[in-house]
Parts: sequence; structure tokens; C-alpha cells
Amino acid sequence: MDLRRFPRYSLTFGPTPIVPLKRLSAHLGGKVSLYAKREDCNSGLAFGGNKTRKLEYLIPEALEQGCDTLVSIGGIQSNQTRQVAAVAAHLGMKCVLVQENWVDYSDAVYDRVGNIQMSRIMGADVRLVPDGFDIGIRKSWEDAMDSVRAAGGKPFPIPAGCSEHPLGGLGFVGFAEEVRQQEEALGFKFDYIVVCSVTGSTQAGMVVGFAADGRARRVIGIDASATPEKTHAQITRIAKHTAELVGLAQPIHENDVILDTRFAGPAYGLPNEGTLDAIRLCARMEGVLTDPVYEGKSMDAMIQMVRNDEFAPGSKVLYAHLGGVPALNAYSFLFRNG
Ligand SMILES: Cc1ncc(COP(=O)(O)O)c(C=O)c1O
Repeated sequence: MDLRRFPRYSLTFGPTPIVPLKRLSAHLGGKVSLYAKREDCNSGLAFGGNKTRKLEYLIPEALEQGCDTLVSIGGIQSNQTRQVAAVAAHLGMKCVLVQENWVDYSDAVYDRVGNIQMSRIMGADVRLVPDGFDIGIRKSWEDAMDSVRAAGGKPFPIPAGCSEHPLGGLGFVGFAEEVRQQEEALGFKFDYIVVCSVTGSTQAGMVVGFAADGRARRVIGIDASATPEKTHAQITRIAKHTAELVGLAQPIHENDVILDTRFAGPAYGLPNEGTLDAIRLCARMEGVLTDPVYEGKSMDAMIQMVRNDEFAPGSKVLYAHLGGVPALNAYSFLFRNG
């Protein structure tokens, strides 16, 4: 397995830090040691996040094809589209973003603040459409590409979460390789890696990357889509394809993809009480912020799994913090009292 043969355009600061969550670990009884790998501060481009790591492997293709417009899609508070807008600005390209109505939530300025505000400020052509949540390829996105072509531009399509792009899994294969190097310096190996999943290529890349040292099933995906069959199928498909692409020695099987479905409710983009409690607890114990759509759900999962003794005593657990904090602004009503 060798990632170096794939061209990579640097958009991040480099390897992301792994930090111990000491007070949170102690608060939960101290039997398990929790750490976080900080993808949420991986770049200076509009706060970065997991998509920025993925885009490093997509952008060389866009440049090679001579594209002048990045076209992507997500919900109104999509982190993906904000990161694509930032990369387009950074490269001097145009950007068209289709922002769908993925979440049935109406904080007063939901479509004005946070991610969408930043995308507008960075000059993206933001197009709001009424379609609901779906992680697959959408007609509204195809229409956006047609409109760029009709205006004489050359679009580069970046699907939701970069996931359906053939190179979408590579960034997080690299994440696993980076963790292995950091483990050598730390002098221990992580027993589990906790990661939030929706469109799938983050976990898919990790499954492939950690399969290389026999830890595919130590990647604990936490579903935040609330459509877990689709997400599981998508992770599996992307992992199988990515494994072939990078020349993984062994094939990936469906049961290599662990997806815990207990923490996603009531719907994509809507937090439950556990999500909100976890956001507050992690913030107050560590000064580390998470969001109600993604990372609050995986943080809740990790906390509950420690409380339920689901990790053996002495385990070292790595929480992949994938970003998403800008969306907190759009949920201000939920936190009006802290
Ligand atoms: C902050 C954050 N966490 C987790 C995810 C899930 O990653 P993926 O879509 O690759 O499953 C996303 C994007 O969807 C995200 O923006």
C-alpha cells in the first residue's frame, strides 16, 4: 500500500496533533484514556476539517483537467461546502454551492450564520434549493454543473462529503498512516478509533488505512445520518474501492465496517439530549468544542461507551475530531442558557 504515488496538493498545516483528554478521561472514572486527533484545526483555510484533508487528493485532478469552477453540494449548514469555498478562493477558482434543506430546524438565522455565512463571504455562488436529506448524487447538483457549462465555465464536481469521488477515501488512508507514525513517537498503539460517519469516505479511508495493521474493526463508526443502512453500504463500497486503489494486501469485507447506530437520533442535523450533554461536558472539561450535527454525536457515543464499560479497562481510545464547530452558530437557541 503506497499513497505517495497519488498527487497531493497541500491545503493543511501538516500532521494534526494528538492530544490527551485528561480531565474528561478522569471525570469518566479514569479506566479508559481518551485522546483526540485534531482534524478540526488542520488548516488555516476557513477553519479546515475532514473535507480539507480529502480535498488534497481531489484538487490535483481539478487542476490537471483545467477546471475553473468547483461545484459541490450539502445541507444549508454544510461544512463540506464551506471548505470547498475556502479552497476555491485559495486557488483563485470560482465556486458554486448547492445547499439543500437537509435539516428540519429553524433557528432564526439558520441560513445566515456559521458555514453558509463564511461561504458567502468567501465569494461562493450559494444556491439554496428545497430538496431534503440524501447522501447520494443529486439532480440539483447535476443542474448546477450544467449551468456552469452553459456560462462557458469548466466545472469540477465534488460530491457530498467528497465521498462518491473515486479519490475521496485517500485522505483518511493518510490519516491512518499519520496515526501510525505518531504512535511510534507516543510509544503505544490506540485500541479504538471513534469517528463520526454520514457520507462515508472518512471512515472508509480509515478502515483501509487501519486494515494495513489489522485494526479495521477497531475503527468505531458512529452514525450521524440516521439512515444507517445507506451510510453503511456507502462506507463499505468506498472502502472496497479505496482498498483496490491503494493496493491493500487484503480485501475489505462488509463486516470490517463497524457502524454504531445508537446515537444518531432523532434525525440528521438534529441533536438529542445526549448530544447536547456531550457537547457541554466536553466543552467544560476540555475547552474543546463539538457541534450538534456530527461531532457532538460521536462525542456522546464515546462518553456513553466509557460509562457503559464497553471499552476494556486500560484501553486507549482516539477520538477523531473532524471539525464542524462553525455550525454551532446556527443552533444558538439550544445553547441560549449555556
Ligand atoms: C464535522 C464533520 N464530522 C463528520 C462528518 C462525516 O464525514 P463523512 O461524510 O466522510 O462520513 C462530516 C461530513 O459529513 C463533518 O463535516
